[in-house]
Amino acid sequence: MAQVKLDIFRYDEAVDAVPHRDTVEVDVPVTMTVLDALETAKAEVDGSISFRRSCRSAICGSCSMNINGVTGLACKTPCKSVMNDEGVIQIDPMPNFQPMKDLVVHMDPFWDKYTRLKPYLQPADRDEDHETERRVSPADMKKLVDAANCVMCATCYALCPVVSVDPSFAGPAAIAYAYRFIEDVRDGKKKERLAQINEDYLWLCAHCYACSYCPKHVDPHDRIVDVKRATIQEGVMMDHPGPRHALVVNKTIKKTGMLAETEVIQGTVGIFNIRGLAKITPLAIRMAVKGKMPPPFLRPIPKVDEVRTIFESLEVPT
Ligand code: SF4
Ligand code: SF4
Ligand code: FES
Repeated sequence: MAQVKLDIFRYDEAVDAVPHRDTVEVDVPVTMTVLDALETAKAEVDGSISFRRSCRSAICGSCSMNINGVTGLACKTPCKSVMNDEGVIQIDPMPNFQPMKDLVVHMDPFWDKYTRLKPYLQPADRDEDHETERRVSPADMKKLVDAANCVMCATCYALCPVVSVDPSFAGPAAIAYAYRFIEDVRDGKKKERLAQINEDYLWLCAHCYACSYCPKHVDPHDRIVDVKRATIQEGVMMDHPGPRHALVVNKTIKKTGMLAETEVIQGTVGIFNIRGLAKITPLAIRMAVKGKMPPPFLRPIPKVDEVRTIFESLEVPT
């Protein structure tokens, strides 16, 4: 047994102007999870401590919270892996969400983004009678299994720095779940789904990999890359800055072995987009004044052929 001191964020939006913290001490086996320690604290010390949970088995996705500043499932986190030498574990609600009561947060923005993507199959022939089931080959199903394992715990959403600065971004979980239907051979709305996810700011992802920490190994970052690739392959939203940026970056690196920044900016904004170019002109002037203007043309680096071979072997679209 060990004495665990749970340093808990306390707040009730119905009565509190500001949050405070309570430390609750419980004697529990060190092999216990943080969720079990919270349950013990609630049962034996303070019944008003509020948190969400259901399965206690990393299946329902309810118990995501910040444990020592890192978001994760409390039912999958042993106390001994997170308590310090004094036995203290700091517990807070997930970031990127408005706290409601203690560790319970308002999940509405997360669910709104998820439901906007219509997370159910929409076969092209769904209104027709079917004598047989719609079958999927093992190879096609293998592509979907990881994404379908998502338990909607919102850990990745809480970890995403882009969500924290721009709440319009769909976020990693919604995009990963959209991928699950975009790549499903039974679905008939691939292009519509890609257009929707592009409208929900797919290209804002900064590829920081913070969401790679997913308790169910969905790896939403890699699914985001897959959705971006599908957007370009399907030719969806090609007049938007996101796909244009990806293509012009590829093009300049393949051509010169380097990032030709002037060409990338023009290609991303659009060479005939007068309003867009006018918008970035003050920045260009400031860069020129500070001597930071990138050269308009770049010579290819020595052995640029080797770079081009990499592109060709990866079949990168240009
Ligand atoms: S992708 Fe992973 S971290 Fe994100 S909601 Fe799904 S299971 Fe949770
Ligand atoms: S990789 Fe993209 S979606 Fe994932 S946390 Fe970073 S910015 Fe957010
Ligand atoms: S209680 Fe269900 S995932 Fe933790």
